[in-house]
Amino acid sequence: MMMNLRSDFYVTTPIYYVNDNPHIGHAYTTILADVLARYHRWQGQDVFFLTGLDEHGQKVQQAAQGRGLCEQSHCDELAASFVSLWQKLDIQNDDFIRTTQKRHIKAVQKALRKIDEGGDVYSSEYEGWYSVAEERFITQTEKESGQFREIKRFKERNYFFKMSKYQQRLIDYINTHPGFIQPEYRRNEVLGFLRQPLGDLCISRPKARMGWGIEIPFDKDYVTYVWFDALINYLTAAGYSEDEEKLRNWWPASVHLIGKDILTTHAVYWPTMLFALELPLPKTIFAHGWWLIGETKMSKSLGNVIDPLSLIDQYGVDPVRYYLMREMVLGQDAHFTLESFIKRYNSDLANDFGNLLNRVSGLIGKYFNGSVPLEGTRGTPEEEIRTTANNLVQKIQDLINAMRVHEAIEEILQLVRQVNKYLEVQAPWKVAKTNLVRAGTILYTSTEALRISAVLLSPVMPGRTHTVLDILGATGTAPLWGKLKAGIKLKSHEALFPRVET
Ligand code: ME8
Ligand code: MG
Repeated sequence: MMMNLRSDFYVTTPIYYVNDNPHIGHAYTTILADVLARYHRWQGQDVFFLTGLDEHGQKVQQAAQGRGLCEQSHCDELAASFVSLWQKLDIQNDDFIRTTQKRHIKAVQKALRKIDEGGDVYSSEYEGWYSVAEERFITQTEKESGQFREIKRFKERNYFFKMSKYQQRLIDYINTHPGFIQPEYRRNEVLGFLRQPLGDLCISRPKARMGWGIEIPFDKDYVTYVWFDALINYLTAAGYSEDEEKLRNWWPASVHLIGKDILTTHAVYWPTMLFALELPLPKTIFAHGWWLIGETKMSKSLGNVIDPLSLIDQYGVDPVRYYLMREMVLGQDAHFTLESFIKRYNSDLANDFGNLLNRVSGLIGKYFNGSVPLEGTRGTPEEEIRTTANNLVQKIQDLINAMRVHEAIEEILQLVRQVNKYLEVQAPWKVAKTNLVRAGTILYTSTEALRISAVLLSPVMPGRTHTVLDILGATGTAPLWGKLKAGIKLKSHEALFPRVET
């Protein structure tokens, strides 16, 4: 039924720092990955969806110290809170990586040995500025830009990766692979960054200063720099340290989803590391924008975060997923406000989608004793709806493959609105008095369009769409016109998306 572009789809989120509880920003990327994974599974592809946690480095160490815990217990506690949030958010990840796991330590050490043996590692004295908030060394210019926080001066001997050696190769790669860094303006940003000479990457930290990390296999006085460690997670989960066949199956990843805050590490450090490791680069690195509160990024260290749990408790998981996916134009920033959440909920979910369900089930209850009527003979207005619905499947698939998730959702909602309008114009409650067969055609058409919308929205709102399909006796049906069975008795239900009064 669906066209396969590739037989498999490996999607990743960043692995989040366990320095505090997850917030809406983390929930956003993870939900996005989940939505993509569900659409691709549904297209018949084999999907591997990876998320996880970044547990090493100074930020995490400081957070543990601040709570008077040893690092590992601190990580374990926070890992549990991430995992339970992902469960509440209906996230169906296939693997959950934590950088303190054995498989990952093995993978990082294997990678370090490999690049060392390839002659890409040297030791040198380094003096410079370090931003603890970003966990990386920064240049004098970056320091003066005022964009970096918690800056410290360091002078110490460390190991370096000859990143500069791969600069031209990376530029050439980006130029010949237009889909590699997306959206296009991020690609241009990276190319702009690469116009300056690229330095080498400091990949170690002396244990004497910061010991919370993976030991460098060729010098036990050092641990690996947290970003070098973190990026390798994408390989670890694909079997790099223990399963070559798995690696051949899944690597390279189809898409690394990231926020624009970590573009340089993913689009510059990571590809050069992969060059040195003699492995192919991921097909796509997609950087989305930020959820802003007012004019500033929502961020743990700024303390302006929104707790996803409180929203879920109040409004349910699916409306939260829906809002986050519908409201953000992928790539651009979006403003999070409770007003816009409620507005979106009331207009799309209560007035459009929820209302369509209430209307058809109410009318079928009243005029057809609760059983789906026969479709009968379609007239022009019915053919129009049927055509829109049938064309929608391919459209949604194309939009999802092009990472235009909010447009895909909008297309589905347009069908819902079209059907609501059709119902008003056709007024089956009037027609039923004189022509029950014709009223049946109108209600079959409306219900069938509702069913197809629910199937198409199911990756975004798995729970509530399942309820809709269950009410229609149509769980697991394909989004093809005519799969709704006449004669099926609709289940009684409450309003699925009751209006939120403000
Ligand atoms: O950077 N809006 O972890 P992190 C949208 N451990 N997305 C947001 C967001 C916001 N306001 N705030 C956070 C790290 N995110 C590293 C990653 S990967 C090998 C290592 C999301 O806990 C977004 O995906 O700071 C962003 O890139 C990520 O969380 C950063 O999470
Ligand atoms: Mg961050």
